Amino acid sequence: MCGIVGYAGTATKDSDHGALEVLIEGLRRLEYRGYDSAGVAVVADGAIHARKKAGKLANLENEISENPLPASLTGIGHTRWATHGGPSDVNAHPHLADNGNLAVIHNGIIENFAEIKALLVKDGVEFLSETDTEVAAALLGKTYREQDTKDLTQALRTTVNQLEGAFTLLATHKDHPGVVVAARRNSPLVLGLGEGENFLGSDVSGFIDFTRRAVELGQDQIVTITPDQHSIIGFDGNPAAGKEFTVDWDAASAEKGGFPSFMEKEIYDQPAAVADTLLGRSDAEGRMTLDELRIDAEELANVTKIVVLACGTSAYAGSVAKYAIEKWCRIPVEVELSHEFRYREPIVDESTLIVSISQSGETMDTLMAVRYAKEQGAKTLSICNTNGSTIPRESDAVLYTHAGPEIAVASTKAFLAQITATYILGLYLAQLRGNLFSGQIKDIMADLGKIPAKIQDILDRSDDIRELARSMAEASSVLFLGRHVGYPVAMEGALKLKEIAYIHAEGFAAGELKHGPIALIDEGQPVFVVVPSPRGRDSLHSKVVSNIQEVRARGAKTLVIAEEGDESVQAYGEFVFYVPETPTLLMPLLATVPLQLFACELATVKGYDVDQPRNLAKSVTVE
Ligand code: M6R
Repeated sequence: MCGIVGYAGTATKDSDHGALEVLIEGLRRLEYRGYDSAGVAVVADGAIHARKKAGKLANLENEISENPLPASLTGIGHTRWATHGGPSDVNAHPHLADNGNLAVIHNGIIENFAEIKALLVKDGVEFLSETDTEVAAALLGKTYREQDTKDLTQALRTTVNQLEGAFTLLATHKDHPGVVVAARRNSPLVLGLGEGENFLGSDVSGFIDFTRRAVELGQDQIVTITPDQHSIIGFDGNPAAGKEFTVDWDAASAEKGGFPSFMEKEIYDQPAAVADTLLGRSDAEGRMTLDELRIDAEELANVTKIVVLACGTSAYAGSVAKYAIEKWCRIPVEVELSHEFRYREPIVDESTLIVSISQSGETMDTLMAVRYAKEQGAKTLSICNTNGSTIPRESDAVLYTHAGPEIAVASTKAFLAQITATYILGLYLAQLRGNLFSGQIKDIMADLGKIPAKIQDILDRSDDIRELARSMAEASSVLFLGRHVGYPVAMEGALKLKEIAYIHAEGFAAGELKHGPIALIDEGQPVFVVVPSPRGRDSLHSKVVSNIQEVRARGAKTLVIAEEGDESVQAYGEFVFYVPETPTLLMPLLATVPLQLFACELATVKGYDVDQPRNLAKSVTVE
């Protein structure tokens, strides 16, 4: 999830900005989308001039003050959230092609970059970086060079029709001063309309300081901007149109996509977080293709035990993973809080696979636990959302989630992306070990592919859960129950409420109720119950329905999350929220979402700082 900005303007006596000022201001506002590196390219004096630097925008600004850029009225800028290739100067965008005459920036993931790269390498193209973007730039450069017409828009169209995955690409060429071209598939792109200047941004915050007239580009569209004009075509070459709107948010809300908090925005980012994490992990035949894993396939196939290490929300993702990996791979999976693991002389050896899960990749407890396990000879694999962070760097292998930067302290989209990544890992291991046929893997991947639209459906129907939250602003304690994969969902629902709404909340395994916690139930006690699919294992569903009855009989206010079509819960739930049908193992990707919305709305109503709750930090780098 990178930030991109493009600009084509004219010098007027009233204008106080050239391309560089627009690009830097845009990047400053877009930095929330990623800050692994930043870079700009401008067209001036018949050449492309680029500067790029790893780290935050300030590093790029220092670089430019040491190596100034010529004045220019055309340019592109990028702030990076690393996916392919770690955060470094060389992997920073823009990437140049056509002998340095063309500059390209990119947001997204190009799934077939390795195949295209292999063909280009055969043609003699040399690559400097590990990025998929440089491959797209080289392909565009080659396409442009080989064309008689030297039409940048058409060259981009030919190029994007060869790319698979999710991308927004922006390009500018030294032979076309005053022109920026851009293409969009599955990644965002907005056009800003000014007077004698036009803008491009991953969202409106990229140009909100300069204009409030915007056009949202549609799927598979290409836009060409000059200072006075813009034209839109589809990837098929036919004329197309975007959706014009006026931005009425202030600049701060624009960064939050118009949502009142980053947390709420990140909840709404979840369809994309899951979709992006799934991108490029399997081929059309249903074979999992985890090229990025650096552990030998045979070694992985032969592990005898998996230990998942994580803290907080990431540990709950690990608990979901246990159910899926054990079912698909028939390998025992232990899930342990990193800080507990380290201090109890755990039994791990060369045949153990440690799977650490961390959004930040910097959580000290998890880092220390991974180091300890490595010392014992275990293989270490990190599931992480932050490219180049310490835990993946120190692990033998990494599987990155592609949720984009998570800014709110309360983890939401990273959680769903982590669960998705553990499914991917489980399917890959099942394939290596021959536990599942490729047809079965393909079916599960197809079910996973439907999840983003189902999350969107939940988000589109969020009014009831929000209203419920508002009505419960005075609650002093809320309990959450679940069984099987619903159990970690219950714990995550409780954690969200504790950390942002400061309400006492506990998540229990529903079967554990009768062993003690049921004593907590008295008149009016709110209890969320996560009900598994009635289509799944009969006993599981009916046991949870019995649990609802048990707490209801003792006066609880029962709040039920169930699968669409499950009429059996209607009689027992004071409130019922339905999530779309999905196989039981994948249900956490849906059932968690209403609980996140509930906590977020409740904390907002109480007037709390949803993004920065008291006493907490986004990344816990102390033990
Ligand atoms: O960055 P990590 O995933 O390693 O962080 C682990 C926990 O600190 C984190 O999940 C924490 O529990 C969140 N604030 C929960 O919303």
